This record gives sequence, structure tokens and C-alpha cells, in this order.
Amino acid sequence: MKHALLVWLLRALARKPAPFRVLDTHAGIGRYDLASDEAERTGEWRAGIGRLLDITEGPLADYLDLVRADGGYPGSPALTAALLRPQDRLALVELHEEDHATLRALFRRDSRVAVHRRDAFEAVRALTPFPEKRGLVLMDPPFEQPGEYERLTAAITEVSRRARGLVQAAWYPIKGRAPVRAFHTALAESGVRDVVAAELHLREPVDAARLNGCGLIVVNPPYGFEEAARAILEALRVELSGEAGAGWALTRIADE
Ligand SMILES: C[S@@+](CC[C@H](N)C(=O)[O-])C[C@H]1O[C@@H](n2cnc3c(N)ncnc32)[C@H](O)[C@@H]1O
Repeated sequence: MKHALLVWLLRALARKPAPFRVLDTHAGIGRYDLASDEAERTGEWRAGIGRLLDITEGPLADYLDLVRADGGYPGSPALTAALLRPQDRLALVELHEEDHATLRALFRRDSRVAVHRRDAFEAVRALTPFPEKRGLVLMDPPFEQPGEYERLTAAITEVSRRARGLVQAAWYPIKGRAPVRAFHTALAESGVRDVVAAELHLREPVDAARLNGCGLIVVNPPYGFEEAARAILEALRVELSGEAGAGWALTRIADE
């Protein structure tokens, strides 16, 4: 869901010839091998990307063409790098030492890509605003520690304050309803303008111990985002969940 929407956002930025920059604050290792022991052990990919790989038409086709072209499972860095033009730049931030080393090795021959080892929220302050004045900040924290929604709200507010025109995309999990509601309220009260939340619901969020869906906050969505996101979310719902309560939502959190 995150990657399909990210691809749409990057295509929108590339509509204009002027250069753009992408800052990916929680980059991971860049791309993943679905045949690795780790991927085979959990087998999680079979219920996700594994169900989509044959799709060649409709709202998911652009994203899935990029996945097939990658040959593995591209993470946000590999997808973004695939869509960069010669004039564009990508800054990748990854705190974990080994993951950072893997990422650095992956992009060592691409002079458009810079790989940083530092804390995501520190990077937001150090690496914005962008010299190009246009681009996207992707924030994709692991949500393994308490306080992640609050840190995300603070980071979104900080980016908006430092570089008002940038597109922002921030991923969040949907386990129970209450934390998501509080997150949306905090964003609505943050003063950040032009914010929408795209959400995919796999089932009713009654068991808050499970990942029942996920969302992407988008600040400054480019023209046409809402219509495109509706089509992408509906296609994902059809492909990924037949459970009761499955669906999607596109909610405006703050007006322009
Ligand atoms: C969900 S993964 C990122 C996946 C990636 N964005 C993608 O779409 O392919 C989250 C990553 O954030 C990294 N991370 C966790 N805390 C961080 C922090 N404070 N600053 C930077 N990276 C962090 C983790 O090591 C992990 O690799």
C-alpha cells in the first residue's frame, strides 16, 4: 500500500522537469530477496506481494511493473531510485549499523543517492529544506517502541515548518482504533495544512494485537492524488482481504 502510493507520488513529482529530492528517513536495506531463508521462514510475503505479482493492468500495474523489473522485493529506496531522473537526488537515512552498510553497498555506484547513518528525526532537521525546493519526505518508522505516533506528528510538523511546500508521506500501522484516532486529532491540531490520510483496512480492528491495516498520511498531496489513491486502495482491498470489515478510507485531516 505504502509503495503503490509512493510510486504514484513520485510519478507526480516527475511530471515537471525541474529537479526534485527525496528524503527517506527510515530506509531499511533497500531491497529484499524473497527467496532468502528469512523471507521463507515467515512466508509473510505470500499473503501480500505474492498475491499481486501477476497483475499487469489497473491502478496497481505501474507499481507491480517496477517490482517485476527489480526481480526481488524492492523497498522504498530501490523503488525511488528506479524513478529518479538524472537531475533528481535521493537521501537515505538508516540508523541500524548493518542495514546502513547493506544500503550503502547497494547504492555505491549511484552518484544521485546519498546514504546517511543517523537518527531519522535528527535527519529531518539536518537535511531539510532541500536545495531543489521541491520533493518528498518519506517517514516509515518501525513502530516498535511507544511514542512513535507522537514522534511522527512532531516530525511532520517540523518538516512542514522548515519546508512548507514539500510532499510528505508517513506510514502508520492500524491495530486498534483509539491510537489512530488520537494521531489524526493531533495532526489536525498541529497547524499543518493540506493533510489527507489514506488507509487500507484488512478487517475490523477488534483485536488490537494484530496488524489490522495501515495508513499513509500525505501532506501537500499533488493534484489528482485523492482519486488515484481511491483506485489503488480499492484494488488492494479486492486483492488482499475478503475478511469482514475490510475496506479503505480516504480522510481529509486538514484543508489546504
Ligand atoms: C519499516 S523499515 C523501513 C522500510 C523502508 N522504508 C521500505 O519501505 O522499504 C524501518 C527501518 O527504520 C530503521 N530505524 C528504526 N529507528 C530508526 C531511527 N530512529 N532513525 C533511522 N532509522 C531507524 C530500522 O532499522 C528499519 O530498517
